[in-house]
Amino acid sequence: MRPRSVQVTEVGMRDGFQMESRILPTERKEAIGLALIAAGVRHIEVSSFVSPAAVPQLADAAALVGRLKGKGAELSALVPNVNGARRGVAAGIDRLTVFASASETHNQKNVRRSVAESLAGMGEIGRIAADAGVPIDGSVATAFGCPFEGEVSADAVLRVVEGYAAMGADRIGLGDTTGMATPRVVEGVVTAIRARFPGLSIGLHFHNTRGIGLVNVMTGLDLGVTRYDASIGGLGGCPFAVGATGNISTEDLVYLLDELGVETGIDLPRLIGVAHDVQAAFARELPGQVMKAGPRLARAPE
Ligand code: COA
Ligand code: ZN
Repeated sequence: MRPRSVQVTEVGMRDGFQMESRILPTERKEAIGLALIAAGVRHIEVSSFVSPAAVPQLADAAALVGRLKGKGAELSALVPNVNGARRGVAAGIDRLTVFASASETHNQKNVRRSVAESLAGMGEIGRIAADAGVPIDGSVATAFGCPFEGEVSADAVLRVVEGYAAMGADRIGLGDTTGMATPRVVEGVVTAIRARFPGLSIGLHFHNTRGIGLVNVMTGLDLGVTRYDASIGGLGGCPFAVGATGNISTEDLVYLLDELGVETGIDLPRLIGVAHDVQAAFARELPGQVMKAGPRLARAPE
């Protein structure tokens, strides 16, 4: 049954900013974060505690968390290893998101180790988080297909989810890194995970690479999934995967959910305003569509 309300996590400041050649100053990122919060966004993936050599756009993760902490949104950040978990906890992050790919090739390109090696490091990250009282979200990249390997089996996804369950993650997220999800694939993976881990909260992270990101959201809603990632203006993409493009745009998602009567707590016109600010910050046309057309009943000047 379709949920009456869902949680939208804004990931543009991580998934989006990591893909832009222009590196925004921390104050500009802070202003965007505060504007998102003012629009009603309550969950923000603000950055990644990864190697600044690998992703220089996110090198200011700790400073940004310091500026946005306690301002009205739960802040999460990606961590690839123990070093990242220590940095995240020291910065005061509210939630850590660990990540590994379901496919070997993408994991190697992304974090330069095998899936087994990534999973082996999870125990220590789990202890660091538990000692600090910080909850963990486990994100599975290439969960619906891999640009290098093609089809990804439900067993490959389950193996990573098992690792997350073992480390004490209370939530998992399924990442559609290069937009290979379709309604059929989404239903298969979500059903397989629920059969094995009935109590685990599942979130969906779609990229709009093939134009059916919101169609996949409809499938998620029909399956009763209550958490979705999206990116302001449709920013986003993985620098370590070929052909990666933007996430589903947050305004387009909120527009759809509003029309379906599914509550998000987010104010669409204000969110559209933030999308225009972000577009100005990067000085390029963003892929979001509702930011261009406005809400359904927006009147054109006669
Ligand atoms: N935070 C900051 N610095 C880190 C770090 C972290 N979490 N992890 C490693 N480093 C630093 C090390 O200190 C070392 O620095 P040095 O060269 O000055 O000594 C350097 O990075 C290399 O460390 P190493 O452990 O050998 O890692 P690596 O070179 O094999 O890189 C990752 C592995 C995971 C750290 C790196 O590939 C990475 O950060 N990738 C980012 C992946 C990502 O964000 N993908 C997009 C999201 S899906
Ligand atoms: Zn993504």
